Amino acid sequence: MVKSALQASAFGKEFHWGVAISAAQNEGAVLEGGRSNSIWDVFARRKGVIKKAAKPSTACDFFHRYRDDLLLVKALGFNSFRFSISWSRVLPDGSGKANPAGIAFYQELIDECYALGLTPFVTLYHWDLPQVLQAEGGWESPLINRWFRHFAKVCAKNFPAVKHWIVLNEPSGFTTLGHLLGIHAPGRRTMDGFLKAVHHAAIAQADGGRVLRQYIPDTKIGTSFSCSEVIPFTDSPSDIAAAKRIDLFINRLFIEPLLGKGFPEDDRGIVQKMNRLNKSWKYASQMQFDMDFIGIQNYFPIVVKQNPFIPLIQASEVKPKDRKVPVTAMGWEINADSFQHIIRRFWKYGAIKEIMVTENGAAFKDTLQQGRVNDQPRIDYYRQYLEALMRCKREGVKLGGYFAWTLMDNFEWAEGYEARFGLVHVDLKTQLRTVKDSGFWWRDFLKI
Ligand code: NOJ
Repeated sequence: MVKSALQASAFGKEFHWGVAISAAQNEGAVLEGGRSNSIWDVFARRKGVIKKAAKPSTACDFFHRYRDDLLLVKALGFNSFRFSISWSRVLPDGSGKANPAGIAFYQELIDECYALGLTPFVTLYHWDLPQVLQAEGGWESPLINRWFRHFAKVCAKNFPAVKHWIVLNEPSGFTTLGHLLGIHAPGRRTMDGFLKAVHHAAIAQADGGRVLRQYIPDTKIGTSFSCSEVIPFTDSPSDIAAAKRIDLFINRLFIEPLLGKGFPEDDRGIVQKMNRLNKSWKYASQMQFDMDFIGIQNYFPIVVKQNPFIPLIQASEVKPKDRKVPVTAMGWEINADSFQHIIRRFWKYGAIKEIMVTENGAAFKDTLQQGRVNDQPRIDYYRQYLEALMRCKREGVKLGGYFAWTLMDNFEWAEGYEARFGLVHVDLKTQLRTVKDSGFWWRDFLKI
């Protein structure tokens, strides 16, 4: 076998190498320090919505163990750490007064990052809306924009030391899964509610940028998008058209309004409803913001064919298992070329200053045997995807960082604790952490 020439140093001295986590998936301590419930605490009580009825209540107890966990991040050689702020911890009433204990927790976490030489990348919203705001309509209410600006302001004023912000995590993820398909919190399933949530999230991502820039002028601001290369199953015109429709929802829905282009047009009139709302200059400008960087989060490509039985979108996925391609434990296709293609595609918009890969990683069925997790498939995954990233760099894409998802096995939303994405194995009964072979691989890779 040819030895890979992949080297971390080739990405440059200033490159941010990090791991990413989020509050709801890691912190636990949901009733401590004055925190109120988030939509995930409440959603998880419903029957049958989360595998094995798992709850985020304790997760991997990051709230109490963050000092040790940050030491692990450092020991694995990373120089940056991405986490999110729990809105319910900072503003238990959703709006109004900040909770001093919640603020103190994040200030200490930020200080600890700096003390260890880790650059904090802080996400404002990673899917955990306070339940009190859900009760008032949540993302489907126009009031969300006022509530979100207030949350952003409280964070900006209290955490001015943070110099890298991510406004929203995967808006197409939380609007589609939570408001159209109903498989994530808050479990809503209406087209009208989905379109409203999309509209409000598109405004919120720009609003968040404006608030952060106003209160911390010297900070770098970005926002993160999930994206996947959409590949037509055949080269028939109908499959190509179907792929275009899916692409609109998966890749274009949020970046284009942010870039000032308004919502994208489709050939079935699905987003025209939104366009009617947003074509006016007022709305288009509300959704536009000049980000310092765009966060790309990619895991797999999607292969699509025309399907007249699917209402409106008339397209469906040709699943990886039916195409007999390599997959992760999530059933997601492993395809590093498609990672390169989607990054190239975003860069081609021409209006993006810098791209950071704010998430990429893989779940596998890990086993802990005699204190060791041999997760060679994960190592292979990272190596292939990083090689693809190197090709993007050579093509001229301005890349600022790469964050592996994720530090340790955690609460994977509707998958509960079944899907393990971590570089560190977590025994959920004892909270014992065991660095997987992939974690050691990263440590060696980052020894620059
Ligand atoms: C996207 C989300 O941002 C994150 O919360 C999730 O755990 C990973 N992808 C893996 O599914």
